[in-house]
Amino acid sequence: MKSLLILTGHSKGLGRAILNTYLEKDEFEIIAISRTRLELNKPNLTEISLDFGELDVLENELSNLFPSGDFNEIILINNAGWIGEIKPVGSLQVKSMRTQININLLAPMYLTNAFVAAYKDSKAKKIICNISSGAASKPMEGWGEYCSTKAAIAMFTKVAAKENQDSEFRFFSVAPGIVDTQMQDEIRQADELDFPQIERFKSYKTNGDLSSPEMVATKISYLLEHESEFQDVIQDVRNFDLP
Ligand SMILES: NC(=O)c1ccc[n+]([C@@H]2O[C@H](COP(=O)([O-])OP(=O)(O)OC[C@H]3O[C@@H](n4cnc5c(N)ncnc54)[C@H](OP(=O)(O)O)[C@@H]3O)[C@@H](O)[C@H]2O)c1
Repeated sequence: MKSLLILTGHSKGLGRAILNTYLEKDEFEIIAISRTRLELNKPNLTEISLDFGELDVLENELSNLFPSGDFNEIILINNAGWIGEIKPVGSLQVKSMRTQININLLAPMYLTNAFVAAYKDSKAKKIICNISSGAASKPMEGWGEYCSTKAAIAMFTKVAAKENQDSEFRFFSVAPGIVDTQMQDEIRQADELDFPQIERFKSYKTNGDLSSPEMVATKISYLLEHESEFQDVIQDVRNFDLP
């Protein structure tokens, strides 16, 4: 029987590494959503171009994103994310705050909600993995938008898990650690006055302390494959090693 993965933010960074990990698993059909299409021409991959910054299109497409079928396992990984405008509160732009909430919070909320509605009667193993951040529980100066949206999606995930305790659904909110992606590039380009921690983040790169997207993707795949070993909704890939 086939399995299904719906993955957002597959075009680069951690999402691209997760995509590669699942492309190697022949049993998976994959629906991947980002603004950019990779045009990989893989028979088990369907790419959809959507901009989560503007949610009108996603709202209209929601009911078409989740195919019915006799699946063994169905996974949703809400990975797409944006660091947002790195500025202190008082200097944030209204448009950027709205875009940030759309990408990091509303889009994964919409998709989680629609996924539960679409598959509540399916007998498949069903897992929702929302990629959050250590910043969800740690205030960082200049990251007001980012910390807030990551904290909110973690709480939304915990509520959904509580509502579905006696069901076939599993919910995880996963912090991936500090990963060597374009998002870290953007962080290192912030203005020191807006982001006092910048030197620490630059040193992660120069000291080779960043995790590779491939390693983090492997850990996320392990977590989802061995979900019964992981009881808590809130997970941090830094807290477990691969066997
Ligand atoms: N890197 C880290 O150190 C780190 C740490 C903690 C948590 N995280 C989280 O891990 C996840 C992946 O981050 P990353 O580091 O891999 O970031 P990244 O390299 O910047 O990649 C972000 C992904 O999200 C997609 N995306 C961004 N804006 C979008 C939009 N408006 N509409 C649709 N898709 C959009 C991008 O695709 P397009 O540009 O093609 O749309 C891309 O595939 C994020 O949720 C991030 O918050 C990362």
